Amino acid sequence: MPNEADGSGEDDGTRDALAARRGLDDPVYAPAEDSGLLAEAAAERARGVVLEVGTGSGWVAERTAEVEGVSRVLGSDVNPHACRRARERGVEAVRASLVDPFRDRAFDTVLFNPPYLPTDPDAEWGDWQEAALSGGESGRELIEPFLEDVGRVLAPSGTVLLLVSSLTGFGEVVEHAVDCGFRAETVVEESFPYETLSVLALSLDN
Ligand SMILES: C[S@@+](CC[C@H](N)C(=O)[O-])C[C@H]1O[C@@H](n2cnc3c(N)ncnc32)[C@H](O)[C@@H]1O
Repeated sequence: MPNEADGSGEDDGTRDALAARRGLDDPVYAPAEDSGLLAEAAAERARGVVLEVGTGSGWVAERTAEVEGVSRVLGSDVNPHACRRARERGVEAVRASLVDPFRDRAFDTVLFNPPYLPTDPDAEWGDWQEAALSGGESGRELIEPFLEDVGRVLAPSGTVLLLVSSLTGFGEVVEHAVDCGFRAETVVEESFPYETLSVLALSLDN
């Protein structure tokens, strides 16, 4: 996720700067470096029945469906435009928040590239791109409730693949995951001028 909110003191210009670079008038998140890294981790680790939370355009889900050992991929998103776009790609998609509507132990793999940019509450812009990008003041406002509930929908020996940015606080995310009962391991990592992106594989001792 390209980041303009990097302490450069340009908060008021964040939305406009992103709009110029990424065409933010589209209500659906366009796949970027973070999407690519999550797809790479999924190619290595996804198996069985897969849920991609926050599927956006469905690009990651579409690629994951081609991974050997993956039997079915479901995408979910709060954004109805994203669900429609993912379905146009052939991805089975449902409108949902995090893992709320899903049955216990339903998925062997859960993927999530969350909205993670730390955002000044006074600079929020209130549209679907904000839902895709903003992780609230800490950057972890969606990640923490996700970690608190995702273990419920994981099948025994299941794995969560979670994209984490250094902007969000890698250590804080790992600490919260461990508090929720997960073992955490980094699967892939890549550094960019404005952030380091990692994908964590999280598993429960069961
Ligand atoms: C950074 S984008 C990632 C999109 C896509 N997975 C990708 O990697 O290109 C985050 C996505 O999470 C979705 N989202 C935000 N809040 C959510 C929630 N509470 N439950 C499910 N999805 C959510 C956004 O609408 C957006 O599509």
